[in-house]
Amino acid sequence: MSALRTPLTELVGIEHPIVQTGMGWVAGPSLVSATAEAGGLGILASATMTFAELEAAITKTKAHTDKPFGVNIRADATDAPERIDLLIREKVAVASFALAPKQELIAKLKDAGVVVIPSIGAAKHAVKVASWGADAVIVQGGEGGGHTGPVATTLLLPSVLDAVDIPVVAAGGFFDGRGLAAALAYGAAGVAMGTRFLLTKESTVPEAVKQEYLKRQLQDTVVSLKVDGMPHRVLNTELVDRLEHSGRWRGLAAAVSNAAKFKGMTGMKWSAMVRDGLAMRKAKDLSWSQVVMAANTPMLLRAGLVEGNTQAGVLAAGQVTGIIDDLPTCKELIDRIVADAVARIDSIAALTADHNAAPNGS
Ligand SMILES: Cc1cc2nc3c(=O)[nH]c(=O)nc-3n(C[C@H](O)[C@H](O)[C@H](O)COP(=O)(O)O)c2cc1C
Repeated sequence: MSALRTPLTELVGIEHPIVQTGMGWVAGPSLVSATAEAGGLGILASATMTFAELEAAITKTKAHTDKPFGVNIRADATDAPERIDLLIREKVAVASFALAPKQELIAKLKDAGVVVIPSIGAAKHAVKVASWGADAVIVQGGEGGGHTGPVATTLLLPSVLDAVDIPVVAAGGFFDGRGLAAALAYGAAGVAMGTRFLLTKESTVPEAVKQEYLKRQLQDTVVSLKVDGMPHRVLNTELVDRLEHSGRWRGLAAAVSNAAKFKGMTGMKWSAMVRDGLAMRKAKDLSWSQVVMAANTPMLLRAGLVEGNTQAGVLAAGQVTGIIDDLPTCKELIDRIVADAVARIDSIAALTADHNAAPNGS
């Protein structure tokens, strides 16, 4: 199969310019090692793991692949410095962040040879992290799943490409070879996909939940502020509909009780949760009620994505869920995306080649 060499494949040492993003409760060792073995960059989601679970997940991923992979860390978590030390110790290839880490932490990772790729949602943030030494950025447009912004990939991507010189990976709405070819034509170094990888054989999301995603149409996601106070793109389920129409205090009471469950499950102390909350409040400029709701989100996502309870859980999803109708293996998916992108790039190149050819073919 033809290869696509880009600044991303060179930077990370992977075969194909395709990233599987760090989705909480979804991107575990099974998905990440399958992506790595298929030649893409898989990223473990660690925000929903305890430190010990992250250690175990890294060990398990390494047992299934010796190819490069990454770990997504919440930069505002109180134990972010220890997690960064773990990545360095374990020689993890890539550190991914939803919020930019402090400049010293980027420098520390880079000195240890770890590639730093923060996710950003605006050109000004890309400029900031590039000036702090980030090696590349993932830019997520508004059609993407999970926390998302208002601007579509088609406009956000060129604005970021114009603003920075480091490699830019396009995310939000990608699922096939057309998307990869288009992203490369924009000048991106590759694509990153969340929802598309959630819907693969190796994703550990319960089968019934996968079917729920497959059934959905393009208009069946909604950006809700009621899940955790920040714009969150999710499947438009009955629960989300109820949250959207519930009063503020009822939502908050449920949020506090769920935050307590998450605390019990992860072994986090209230003091650590309050410290994380304070950091989040400062970093994201949130009100206290938004912080409590944010602490609640992991439980709602877990109920849906791990326990398969679509009535009580929230299912983060990109709009792209409406166009996906199969559950390939990661290898089938990556192979077909690359083959199709190569064919599309060749046929576009032929447009100018034909035009320039001499009429008699000489
Ligand atoms: C189920 C789900 C969980 C997610 N969890 C996280 C997360 O924990 N951290 C993060 O940085 N992004 C998270 N995201 C966002 C993805 O990493 C990615 O940026 C997004 O899915 C890209 O858009 P797409 O779904 O159209 O491919 C999540 C997305 C989904 C669908």
